[in-house]
Amino acid sequence: MSYFIPILLGTSREGRFSEKAATYIEKLLRARGVETQLVDPRAMESEISHEKIEADDWCGTMEKADALIIVTPEYNHGYPGVLKDILDSAEEECFRKPVAICGCSSGGLGGARVVEQLRQVMIELRMPPIREAVYFSDHKNLWNEDGSIKDPGYENRVNKMLDELLWYTQILKQGRETLPFPA
Ligand SMILES: Cc1cc2nc3c(=O)[nH]c(=O)nc-3n(C[C@H](O)[C@H](O)[C@H](O)COP(=O)(O)O)c2cc1C
Repeated sequence: MSYFIPILLGTSREGRFSEKAATYIEKLLRARGVETQLVDPRAMESEISHEKIEADDWCGTMEKADALIIVTPEYNHGYPGVLKDILDSAEEECFRKPVAICGCSSGGLGGARVVEQLRQVMIELRMPPIREAVYFSDHKNLWNEDGSIKDPGYENRVNKMLDELLWYTQILKQGRETLPFPA
């Protein structure tokens, strides 16, 4: 079965490091034959709160998606506002599609707090958050010039997360296609 799983970046910040983590995950996802695309808040943020046109792009992406991966930094122990804006712009398109959340930070916790907070948000969007996550800590020092990662241990962590996400992706896709959801 083929799947489409977009990767949503959490920030539009100039010089963001979390984009490197998202690109790293993108490569490992593609290596499994999964169709994906990076969804960049920079293309959306100026109008997302007020203009339905830009939000429609996100809705259209989620309409096609079978699951979602979010890669976000932690800002003041929470999620970036632009990320919440985007998440708030779609509804039914997201329902009953699983989500994996990865955190990034320059400190040692790898965005653990933002991952926990976002899980609560995703439940309200009816996107079951999976347990496995990847926490990119000290991420300013984690990347080589060419975008490759310095710590090879991350590959195993990402693949473990993808294993779990793809399991839920398959099960929930079958469920959406075959089972009526309780009213
Ligand atoms: C507004 C702001 C708030 C931050 N708050 C936190 C925080 O709460 N916890 C943390 O570990 N790092 C925090 N940092 C440091 C970030 O982990 C670091 O800047 C990281 O590179 C952010 O990811 P980005 O480069 O993708 O924006 C903060 C950075 C910014 C710009």
